[in-house]
Amino acid sequence: MAKRRLKKSVKIGLGIIASVIIVIIGIIIGVKKYQDHKKYIASYEYKLTNVGYNEEELNYLLEQDDKIKDKLLDIDYNEKIVDFLKQKYFILDNLESYLEYYQKNNSTDLNKIVSLVNVGADSDYYDNTKETNIDDNNLMLVNKYNYLPEDYNPTDIVDIKNWYCYGENKIKNEVYQKFIEMFDAAKEDGKKIIISSGYRTYDEQKDTYDSYVSRYGVKKADALAARPGYSEHETGLTLDITTGNATKDTFESTEEFTWLKNNSYKYGFILRYPKDKEDITGYAYEPWHYRYVGVEVATKIHELDITYDEYYAYFIAN
Ligand code: DAL
Ligand code: ZN
Repeated sequence: MAKRRLKKSVKIGLGIIASVIIVIIGIIIGVKKYQDHKKYIASYEYKLTNVGYNEEELNYLLEQDDKIKDKLLDIDYNEKIVDFLKQKYFILDNLESYLEYYQKNNSTDLNKIVSLVNVGADSDYYDNTKETNIDDNNLMLVNKYNYLPEDYNPTDIVDIKNWYCYGENKIKNEVYQKFIEMFDAAKEDGKKIIISSGYRTYDEQKDTYDSYVSRYGVKKADALAARPGYSEHETGLTLDITTGNATKDTFESTEEFTWLKNNSYKYGFILRYPKDKEDITGYAYEPWHYRYVGVEVATKIHELDITYDEYYAYFIAN
């Protein structure tokens, strides 16, 4: 009898223990589920889904930097956003401007939009301008949106010997020394490169620009010459180069031009206004206009095959 009672109490005891264990397991599972849910609610996956991104877009976005994801949580969903993110030279701060440009212009070439917006060409020429950072020295950007300080006077400007140029010309000494190296190398290869224009003061640039305006009107003048304060020639870092009796129209078909195209970067010079990049640079193709940026940057630009405006926006200002 006592044995049976003992057996019964053991059974009840075991039952209680089992129930307690089941309740504890239930609580643990419940807490875990609650924590997982909380974690999911706080995740980029959940938040970006709520903004409107689909699974395919999410797969791409979840691999990106947090600062990109955070930005997308701040702005409305747009089906073009992920396509823009995939473009080379995409700059996060410019995202809204890319979308605005896309909407206004109904353009499908997203890469082009990225380039145009990066260089500021989504604004009209000479609109939204700012003073350039002269502390960039050899890398300072001077174009239709970035001007030189009014009283800017480049240092180390020297006279160019007649041997190297037509007429009277000046240039920064560092640029001059590199030009001489380039001149000698070209000569070794049987080519003769001659400077036709170097440093110009503000007033000289004004005369140049005004003479274009009186000949062609403002629109064409703006494609051919910079307004005073906006010309690279005023930095002392730029040279117009020609050969023999070539004119601006014929220089492109000379051997000297081909030589410069293939070699000028080795001496720190880049072709500043290339063909088919007129909407990026704001200028007609100028096979004669070379900008000194130093060998390292010139080599990179040559390899990437981009304009200096694009290079500066992505690699220096960004
Ligand atoms: N021709 C170039 C754009 C200048 O005037 O600086
Ligand atoms: Zn020039």
